[in-house]
Amino acid sequence: MASEALQQRIAGLRKQVEAELSRSVRSRPWPASLQSAVDYSLMAGGKRLRPVLVLLANEVCGGRLEDAWPAACAIEMIHTYSLIHDDLPAMDNDDYRRGRLTNHRVYGEALAILAGDALLTLAFEKLGETELGVDIQADLMRVLAVAAGGGGMVGGQVLDLEAERGPFPTSPEQSLSPSAVSEESRRATENTLKGGCSDAQVAVPDQRQNLPSGEQSGGPLRKKLEIVGNVSSRTAVPNVEELNRIHRMKTGALIAASLEMGATSARATREQRKQLVHYGHCIGLAFQIADDVLDVTGDAVKLGKTPGRDVDLGKLTYPALLGLDSSRQKAMELVQEACDTLKCFGERGHWLEELARFIVERDH
Ligand code: IPE
Ligand code: IPE
Ligand code: MG
Ligand code: MG
Ligand code: MG
Repeated sequence: MASEALQQRIAGLRKQVEAELSRSVRSRPWPASLQSAVDYSLMAGGKRLRPVLVLLANEVCGGRLEDAWPAACAIEMIHTYSLIHDDLPAMDNDDYRRGRLTNHRVYGEALAILAGDALLTLAFEKLGETELGVDIQADLMRVLAVAAGGGGMVGGQVLDLEAERGPFPTSPEQSLSPSAVSEESRRATENTLKGGCSDAQVAVPDQRQNLPSGEQSGGPLRKKLEIVGNVSSRTAVPNVEELNRIHRMKTGALIAASLEMGATSARATREQRKQLVHYGHCIGLAFQIADDVLDVTGDAVKLGKTPGRDVDLGKLTYPALLGLDSSRQKAMELVQEACDTLKCFGERGHWLEELARFIVERDH
């Protein structure tokens, strides 16, 4: 477990993060329902690991705390949005998060999706408050956008779901849910479009008409894919490289971005930034491995979410692929590698070193 000193340090930073986040969302000209849904998830606690990483990276590079607040808040906003969407029925379909009902279980799916959208855009608005000059501001926005987007968190979430359910379509012709539109209504729309605009292309492939509606995942989905055929170039047997790619993208990218943004807001040297990004990638993968392990071994009250969901959903996880012992071993190796990269910071790196160890030893 984390030392008393680390616990106190994190608790102090977390308190400041909470205050900054609360200030950032207060009195917005938003519909009251949206404000409530955003507050509900953003102010529900959580470890605040990513903002703490921003602040500690800023500190280790000799930066000023006040310069790191926009990045610290922005990363937590993106993270919270990713959790709201991750819990949706179309994704992991979870009922509990941060010790309370998930956002969509309280506010409904539509508002939960929109609360996520609001947090995503608010994060970039927040980065716009950075007073370090336009170059640094642009740099921060680019780092966050890349990490949160299709080559980072969002892309990782896609791969996570594909590993669970089989591939999504890679072209409209492979659509998985065509029969939500009745044949009659499809024909009517087709005729209207043809009449209204002579060269409109209405491409509805015949094969899609055979597909059943209402099926969402697992077996039925795989069956659909067999019907449609020719949809995947993915390897059928999952391997650890593929899993690492998913984990690095869905979780590691935002964690590494936290370090990079902390360094950027301290005007760190290129070398410092490089070392911190490497540390971030190592602890990012270790963090998701620990999350996978806790899904098997963890306690619902401590976790604030329901354990056992990965097995229920048939997720591709470290314990599923390598077992618990090898998973823990791999996480510890990554933490060691992370700590080795901190050597260039000397004694100043000790908080980040302790935090890396906490990531794999945590029980929540
Ligand atoms: C949960 O993240 C989602 C993963 C990336 C595994 P955290 O475990 O950091 O969640 P909070 O922020 O503490 O609620
Ligand atoms: C989620 O990973 C990663 C995100 C991008 C949110 P998980 O699906 O394993 O996270 P939990 O276990 O629901 O917190
Ligand atoms: Mg998930
Ligand atoms: Mg999940
Ligand atoms: Mg998990």
